[in-house]
Amino acid sequence: MGIRIAVLASGRGSNFQSILDGIKEKDIDGKIVILISDKADAYALTRAKENGIPTQVVLKKDFKTREEMDLRIKEILDSHKVDLVVLAGYMRIITPALLSPYKHKIINIHPALLPLFPGVDAQKQAFEHGAKVSGCTVHFVDEGTDTGPIIEQTVVDISDCKDAHEVSEKILPFEHKTLRKVVAKFSKGKYIVEGRKVRYERR
Ligand code: GAR
Repeated sequence: MGIRIAVLASGRGSNFQSILDGIKEKDIDGKIVILISDKADAYALTRAKENGIPTQVVLKKDFKTREEMDLRIKEILDSHKVDLVVLAGYMRIITPALLSPYKHKIINIHPALLPLFPGVDAQKQAFEHGAKVSGCTVHFVDEGTDTGPIIEQTVVDISDCKDAHEVSEKILPFEHKTLRKVVAKFSKGKYIVEGRKVRYERR
């Protein structure tokens, strides 16, 4: 039957696409049951529609607080009986209203080797710092900004990149591979969180 996946995306949705590809190629045992976006014009919404995936747009302006917005998202996830929530370029901090009921079920892809360069513009931060390597991290989401337990990381040599844009371009295909790998593993077993450590057990 496979796992039921929700994806939250604010923009282009290329990481969302990598999960769609993993499902099509039967690497991931599951399906995306809902794509939620906080931006009405996110290209991820177009990708979802092209692939017959239901969508929901949840806009910050329609809620008084971040908690109320997250409660609405929780309702949507509940109604789709979601096993795994993937933040794929979702540019908002998640509040406990959503985190607590979905503890250790929400993962995020971040375009740097955490705990280095958390937050926005991670690739620019790495470039400006003069880092020779950076990469990407898939981690469980907690209350902090990109601070949750690390599931998987990939190192990318960025020493020849001329600007932050090149860094982003170089890291992106590795994000796709890393995220797809984690979702595939999630669909075939479970990640167990012990403090900051994450280990994997196959079913
Ligand atoms: C990706 O590089 C992702 O790692 C990053 O946004 C981009 C979204 O691209 N996420 C963050 O910076 C989260 N803090 P996509 O919409 O094509 O997947």
